[in-house]
Amino acid sequence: MTSPRKTYIIANWKMNFTPGEASLYLNRLQKRIPAGRNPQVVLAAPTVALQTLSLQIDRRQCKLAAQNFYWRDYGAFTGETSISQIRSFVDYALVGHSERRYIFNESQEDIAQKVAAAIRNGVTPVLCIGETALERKDGETAAAIYNQLTSGLHEVSKEDISKVIIAYEPVWAISSNKNAKPAKPADIEKAQMIIRQDLAHLYGKDIAEAVPILYGGSVNADTAAGYLEIEGIDGLLIGGASLIADTFCAIVETAKRIKNER
Ligand code: PGA
Repeated sequence: MTSPRKTYIIANWKMNFTPGEASLYLNRLQKRIPAGRNPQVVLAAPTVALQTLSLQIDRRQCKLAAQNFYWRDYGAFTGETSISQIRSFVDYALVGHSERRYIFNESQEDIAQKVAAAIRNGVTPVLCIGETALERKDGETAAAIYNQLTSGLHEVSKEDISKVIIAYEPVWAISSNKNAKPAKPADIEKAQMIIRQDLAHLYGKDIAEAVPILYGGSVNADTAAGYLEIEGIDGLLIGGASLIADTFCAIVETAKRIKNER
């Protein structure tokens, strides 16, 4: 079935690259990837590199995302950066990534406030959700998804849900996990259906159909095609494999080919 939704290929560089290294990477990427918005290529760069990259980037080729920010716009919050301070650099922002939830103890309330702050500032939040290995073992995948989705979106109105992207990232499949194992396409397709059902329950069926759902967790150049072919999956959020520009470009090319074939 042809999906009217756009495909997104998002690199999550995490805490890697100096501004200079990020700049070299972008230069290399822009020589290789064609202009065009399908797939939409996005680089979630470290905050410290966003300004440099924003001056260099050709937004017809790719866009930038924040990896993190504080949800208040201004004020006495030593050491924090708000989305209103960086919104001129980025079009997207990751919210609720499992590394933020579990390493930095970000609460469901923080996540909901960040989703709202991104929307308020004209930035598209990429809300990351996914069950832990334990939740999966206990048969609680659907409950974990529902819980993270409803709490993450609780400030988002029916009018604004079209400004949100969901990334399904089962924690046990993310490469930074000690015992990470790649998710099977059947598991991802099932999770995608649960997410769409939950969205339909919250916002109605038509709106649920329009929300892009991405997959993330140990995706590499060899496995990208298999994940992109899953019904209902609209792109990828790539960590480790995005650190090598050539690998990331190869994944972008794969996405373009699959999109054209659909
Ligand atoms: P990974 O990371 O591709 O290295 O598993 C994905 C993510 O954390 O977004």
